[in-house]
Amino acid sequence: MADRQKIIIDTDPGQDDAVAILLALASPELDVLGITAVAGNVPLKLTEKNARKICELAGKPETKVFAGAIRPLARTLVTAEEVHGQTGLNGPDLPEPKMKLQEQYAVDFIVETLMKEDAHTVTLCPLGPLTDIALALIREPKIAKRIKQIVLMGGGFFEGGNVTPSAEFNIYVDPQAADVVLHSGVPIVMMPLDVTHKALTKATRVEKFRKLGTRVGIATAQMLEFFERFDEQKYGSDGGPLHDPCVIAYLLKPELFSGRECNVAVETGSELTMGMTVIDWWGVTKRPKNALVMRDIDHDGFFDLLVERLGRL
Ligand code: RIB
Ligand code: CA
Repeated sequence: MADRQKIIIDTDPGQDDAVAILLALASPELDVLGITAVAGNVPLKLTEKNARKICELAGKPETKVFAGAIRPLARTLVTAEEVHGQTGLNGPDLPEPKMKLQEQYAVDFIVETLMKEDAHTVTLCPLGPLTDIALALIREPKIAKRIKQIVLMGGGFFEGGNVTPSAEFNIYVDPQAADVVLHSGVPIVMMPLDVTHKALTKATRVEKFRKLGTRVGIATAQMLEFFERFDEQKYGSDGGPLHDPCVIAYLLKPELFSGRECNVAVETGSELTMGMTVIDWWGVTKRPKNALVMRDIDHDGFFDLLVERLGRL
């Protein structure tokens, strides 16, 4: 096998984060150096606990889980219990985690790892607000030239927003952090709502997870059935968008996705459009192309990958 891809997942579980973590832990191509929890869908004390619950569900209690930022850089924390439930992981009844949270602060772990590992060998996979990533870049600017790439879920343009008419949740929660990341010069692959809204959980797809008959398969079906109800009511769709696993799927099968290099800028001034990602898809500005923005997905291939990999746990 080719060298395993070394990754750090930064996350705010969240049922869709949970499926992304399961996919990563099930995939031998990936070496998960650590999972860093950030405040987002629910407060930090829940996101870090949920990350540990998912590692145990995956049968990987040796995975290192760290706690990161308790709030955004500048703004007050906005959470999303209406989508994810009070625990952030409503659906399955997962036991309290036995595995310990790492003592080290997540931001220090990110910096230390990037300074220790060979340059351009570690990929950062943010699945929530970008607070931890921004803090790491500010704490040690040298890491910007050592990060292989940042593959993130966040933003939207043609699809508009999901928390305001113009902003997607991860970016809206911490637009200042997103601005730091977008100006970092690090190669970025962006999974905005424009692509994740094409990856719907559909009832037939949820059934395939349940039919695995395993703890992971049944728990995943229960998570998705809870998670999808909010978007089904809002959009009238069959199923909800499975956002965060798109990040991990890209590392495993990039050919599932298509997009183009664009300039992406974020609104940090106007309250009306706070957190909006302005994606120059048609190249009408002279602003530097700072991200590979994905807009299409082979959604059947995506779900086939998910079911096959989660079936290994
Ligand atoms: O807008 C979708 C994103 O916000 C996903 O990462 C979801 O988990 C929430 O964090
Ligand atoms: Ca998330």
